[in-house]
Parts: sequence; structure tokens; C-alpha cells
Amino acid sequence: MCGIFGYVGNKTAYTEVYDGLKKLEYRGYDSCGISVIDKGKFRTIKKVGAPDELNGKSNSKATIGIGHTRWATHGVVNVKNAHPHISKDGTIVIVHNGVVENAHQFDYDLKSDTDSEVLANLIADEYTLDLGKAVSRALEKVEGTYGIAVMHRDDPKTIVAARRGSPLCIGISGDNSETYIASDTYALPPEISRVIYLEDGHVATIAADNLHIYKADQAVEFSHKITGVDHKYNAGDREGYTTFLEKEIREQPVAIRNAMRGRFSKDFTNILFGGIKLRKKVRRVLFLGCGTAYHAGLVGKYLIESIAGIPASVEYASEYKYKNTPTEDGTLIVAISQSGETIDTLTAIEEAQAQDHMVISITNVVASSIARLTNMGIYQHAGPEISVASSKAFTSQLTILVMLAIYIGRKHNLSKVQAKRYISQLRKLPALIEKTLDICTECKTLSAKWTSMKSCKFLGRQFMYPIAIEGALKLKELAYVDCHGYPAGELKHGPLAAVGYHAMCVYLAPQKELFEKNVSTMKEIMARDSHIIAITQEGLDFPEDTYDNIIYLPKAPDYLQPILAVIPLQFFSMYMAQSHQYNVDRPRHLAKSVTVE
Ligand code: G6P
Repeated sequence: MCGIFGYVGNKTAYTEVYDGLKKLEYRGYDSCGISVIDKGKFRTIKKVGAPDELNGKSNSKATIGIGHTRWATHGVVNVKNAHPHISKDGTIVIVHNGVVENAHQFDYDLKSDTDSEVLANLIADEYTLDLGKAVSRALEKVEGTYGIAVMHRDDPKTIVAARRGSPLCIGISGDNSETYIASDTYALPPEISRVIYLEDGHVATIAADNLHIYKADQAVEFSHKITGVDHKYNAGDREGYTTFLEKEIREQPVAIRNAMRGRFSKDFTNILFGGIKLRKKVRRVLFLGCGTAYHAGLVGKYLIESIAGIPASVEYASEYKYKNTPTEDGTLIVAISQSGETIDTLTAIEEAQAQDHMVISITNVVASSIARLTNMGIYQHAGPEISVASSKAFTSQLTILVMLAIYIGRKHNLSKVQAKRYISQLRKLPALIEKTLDICTECKTLSAKWTSMKSCKFLGRQFMYPIAIEGALKLKELAYVDCHGYPAGELKHGPLAAVGYHAMCVYLAPQKELFEKNVSTMKEIMARDSHIIAITQEGLDFPEDTYDNIIYLPKAPDYLQPILAVIPLQFFSMYMAQSHQYNVDRPRHLAKSVTVE
């Protein structure tokens, strides 16, 4: 969360930084700012709101600058707390992503309520003509996480960047005359195809035409590794849609095709994952993730148990690292993260690696911190997901998890014949999703009908339970409705007490073999004067007294139903948010990638 962008070269820095921040605004959008060094002075502009608020044009011709788009952690949202921050003596300007945990230990007279301003002052105090050294010395004093870009007023040729726990990359132009700093490669201009990923504990001194990277504590210089960056998946714009969310929901057939592309053996009896080489036979799987990625892990648990036939469990990454989780030899840890940058997941992986577990990742962002840390994994190739609420990344993760279950199953008891049947069903999935997208037009009418709802319960059994909690999360994230998801069988064990007159429930019931059970639970709800939107599949005739509205998904095997059933929930939440005129792509208080604990 929070986006950082910097530029040093021969173009107008303000414009370059503004363009970069515009692409990063999904990382935080409560305030923003840009500083350039112009004729020996900082020119700084800060605004409350997303980078649009900064005028894209400036009369400054400065060729060096840094900028920030903020997701508040310390201090309320106002111009004073927006980045960049300038040291008290006016010499240092900084943009910071992360948290300085010991900021309270330093006694500075601050203008803002942020920990970042403390860092600016610490650097100013350490400065003796070498900005890189000053940054290194200051960082030795701080605890916590950071990705920073720093400039000194009297050094209009240098930006110093440093990282611990918050991603930063450096993009270099083809002729070496321009250098960019960004918290996400996605923000780099398309012509920049050479990138260096800054590692934790490293400091980079960046001038337009030269670059030094060294360890913060040793000042030992590294020969840095330049990696190619592929912009082919860049989102560009909304391509005619009013929101990124709608665009991304509708891109699901393509995202799912991309997740499967090149991953079936020639005879369609096995899965090929080029990025995985396991050193031991997998005896158990443990999924780690946060938010929607955690829900993907929950579906993954059902898939591994039913298809691969081995035990599986799932943990919130934020919990895993603080508890003892007994595991056995042969446990495979699968970390799921769309962004590949979520700090909770990243640190949970470090913990699992420290315990010598096999760890793989499923991420959507090539060369993201999690992809690099695990060194083994499966890329989603879903294309950038800009909207904060996850849609196509989730269904792409579920598709990959079906493949992972087949892959592991084939190393256990899953026969060739069964694997072939699964794969043949899986290959029909994009067409089923296309059908589901067509059906979802009625979600708009439904959301208009239920627009005044204040709370909602989402219920489902078996594979539908994780979708119930994902549906609840979507409606919470997008329409700010207080929602909860439960396994339908849990209703009697508490939630039923809160199901009263006019209570709203979304009931997920596409499974044929659970039909009778679901009918009886739905009747229990309706008998309490409550309302149900039912989601089922073609061919299941629910009695009319079990629902108010019903959506029929195309027929599909039970293990693929989660991928279809979540789609009407995505639309429903989106339309609900739109009916309240909420910002669908940028829900209040949230950020797309959460890089602070
Ligand atoms: C944030 C986002 C969620 C997302 C979660 C995990 O909380 O708002 O939508 O599910 O992070 O993100 P990841 O990138 O690790 O999948």
C-alpha cells in the first residue's frame, strides 16, 4: 500500500512522476504529493485525494523528482500528513511506504503526525555531503519497514532509494540516460524494459546515468542484476467500461484461459507446472493467504482433499506467523497472493522457510516479492487487477488450485482416467463463465431491489462455504454492508437468532446431492419472515416458498461451481456500490496491496 514513484533524467520530472502516480493510485488514494528540485529549491505540491488532484502540468522544468500516493497508517488524512515530507532544516525530502515502529523514540518538532517525517529529520542529521551514507546511517537507527525515495536540496542529480519489507524497483532507459523508481513495475513507462528489484536491506544511489547499490549496514557495493520487464499485460485504461472492476469481472474467461494455457500434458492426463520442483512427496498441503486469497485457499482445501485425496488446511497468513502450527514431514505450503507483495503473506513465508518447509506461491505479478522469495511457484497470468476488490484474480487462483489438486493427485492415487475427466471438464470452464456472465444481467435489478439492506448473511455448504464468505467480503468491501458468511449447517448454532423480520440472506445451493438439505435450511429462514436470494444451477427446482429471487448458473461439476457461483456475487456487490454512488474501484479505507502489518 502507498505508491512511490521517482524520476531522474532529461524530461520534465513533475510530469513523469505524475504519470507514474496515476498508475499507482490503486495502492492508496487518500492523499498524494510530488516534490522536484528546481533551481536549488524543493517545489512540493500535496493534495488530499487521488493523484488526479495533482495537476498533471507544472511550469517547473526540473528533471528530478519523487512522488507518493498514500494509504494512511500514521496520522489522519490531510495535506499536512501527505507525502513528500521535508526535514525541519529544509534540506531533505522523503517519500516513505511502511511504518517506522520506533518513531516515538526520536524527539523532533514535527509538522505532521507521520513517522515518515521523523525519517526525513534523521537523514538530515546524518548528512555530510553524501546522501547515500546519510540514508544508510539513519536507517540503522530505525525499526520497522520501509521503501523510501529521498532527495537532498543541494544535490539535484541524485535520488537515494532503500528498502526493507516494502517493494521498490529501479527502471533504466535503453540509453541509460533516465532512471525511474517505482513501488511496482506496472507503473513504469512501457518503453522501460530493464529493471532492478531492490532487495531488503539494500540502498541505491541513483543518478540519471549511474547507479550504485550497496548493503545499508556495510557500504559494500553490489553488481546489480538487471531483469527484463514485460509490459504486455499492462491494463492500459478501462477500455470502455465505467470501472476497472466491471472490466476485470468480464475478463474472467480470458484470465481462466491464460491460467490453463500450456499447462496440460499432451494426452490431457496430467498437469505441467514448469515453476515447481518439489524435493519430497507431498503428504499434506497448508494454504496461506489474506482476504480473498485466503478464501481461495479455503476452496483449495476442499479441492486437495476431494481430488488429491490428502489432508489440507488453510491459515490466515497474518495468524500463521504468530502461532505454532504443527506440520508433518512432506507438508507443502502454498502461499496465495494476487499482488505478491502482501506483507503478512511474505513474512509468513519467511517463517515457513525458516522451519524448512517446502513453499510454493501462486501470484499474479511476475517477479513480485513473494514470487522471488519462494523461487518456486505458479504465475496466474490473469493480467493486472487494478480494482481493489479482487475478481478475476480469485477465479484464476481457483482454476490453478483445481490444476494443483490434479497435479498432486497424480502423485498419489488419482488415476489417469479420472485426471483426464477432470481436465476435460476444466477445459469447458471458460465457456461456462461466459454463460454465467450473460446470466448476471439480472443482478442489476436485484441490487436495485435490495439497495437499502443494512446487513446480509451469505450461506452455503461444502464448496459453497468459502464462496459464502467471499461473497460477504465483496459486499462489505464494495457496498459497506455489514455481512457475514457461514457454512449453512451452522445457521442453527447461532446465526439463526439474528435472522429476523426482513433479514437478507444470499443462499448458495448449486449442488444436486445437497438439494434436500438446502431446501430445509432455506425454509427455516423463510419461516422467519426473512428474504433469500438463491443461487443454484440449471435443473434444480427449488420450491417457490424457499426464495424471493433465484439465479440459475449453468450446470457444472461441484468442484467447478465455486468459480461460477462467485460471479453473480461480484456483480451484485458492484451494482450495490454503484447504487449508493460509492467508488467501486477504490473502496474507502482499503488498498489493493497491503505492504504494512
Ligand atoms: C487486501 C485487498 C484484498 C486482498 C488482500 C490480499 O486486503 O484489499 O482484496 O484480497 O489484500 O491480497 P493479495 O495481493 O495478497 O492477494
